[in-house]
Amino acid sequence: MATRHRGIAIVLAVVNQKGGVGRTTVVLELAQALARRGARVLAVDADPQANLTEALEPAAAPELTLNDVLAGDPDRGGEVAEGSIIDAVVVADPQWAGVEYVPGEIALASREQDQVPGRELRIRRALAGQLGLWDWVLIDCPGSLGQLTISALVAADYAVVVTEARKASVDGVASITATITTIKRHFNPRLELAGIVVNRHDENRADPRLWLQTLRDDYGPLVLKPAVPDRESVPRAYSERTPLAHYGTATADVVDAFDQIAAALVATARKGRK
Ligand SMILES: Nc1ncnc2c1ncn2[C@@H]1O[C@H](COP(=O)(O)OP(=O)(O)OP(=O)(O)O)[C@@H](O)[C@H]1O
Ligand SMILES: [Mg+2]
Repeated sequence: MATRHRGIAIVLAVVNQKGGVGRTTVVLELAQALARRGARVLAVDADPQANLTEALEPAAAPELTLNDVLAGDPDRGGEVAEGSIIDAVVVADPQWAGVEYVPGEIALASREQDQVPGRELRIRRALAGQLGLWDWVLIDCPGSLGQLTISALVAADYAVVVTEARKASVDGVASITATITTIKRHFNPRLELAGIVVNRHDENRADPRLWLQTLRDDYGPLVLKPAVPDRESVPRAYSERTPLAHYGTATADVVDAFDQIAAALVATARKGRK
């Protein structure tokens, strides 16, 4: 079953204010899983750490990044031109199955401090009018609740929260879902939480099993199935800048988890469009 609706892209912000929970891994692997289903995918690196860009980058350094797009036009008070994201779109290395991306860079950190009016709307404006080019736009957000995460949530149809099944992370989920509700109320009424990806799950340990159950008790079907297993091959693939699917049996269960999560997101998006 293909994901092609050939309408306009569904914009998904992958968020959590806690660092290191697996947001970038989720963006990379969901992009792959959606591309395997025939979808046209744009991955946007909205994190100044630019880990997504490092993974996807072809040999040549990008000419323009999301920072250039969001810095806007200095002659117009830093206003972001509608549709200007297109100036920074790059095709990823062919091993990433035709996924396109918008690079990030460390200078994006300065955009957190910008005081320009309408700064919450910057990513939305940059995407405006271009969404017919893709089926999905996945935004990798920083591990903080600053202007870049807010701007991504204002641009998004859906938020996907990434967490681990441990106490500190589960507490963080309540905080990010409250933020999503606030953004929905003030800036983006169509924003919905598509689901919570539980990453790095160790089914053999009692503590994570307990915290996974707590998440299921609190958020019900919003906790996407299955939890993504904790596998040493994931950081290896990450450091070798290679899709997980290239590692065969060592990563098969992780790849399968992302395929199932992608299928669930496609189903949610279809329901939302009816
Ligand atoms: N399922 C997994 N099993 C094992 N390791 C994982 C898994 N998912 C992610 N990791 C590893 O955990 C580390 C953090 O993951 P990742 O960079 O995706 O998280 P992040 O939330 O984007 O972090 P940051 O806050 O740095 O942006 C990486 O080394 C990654 O390879
Ligand atoms: Mg990251």
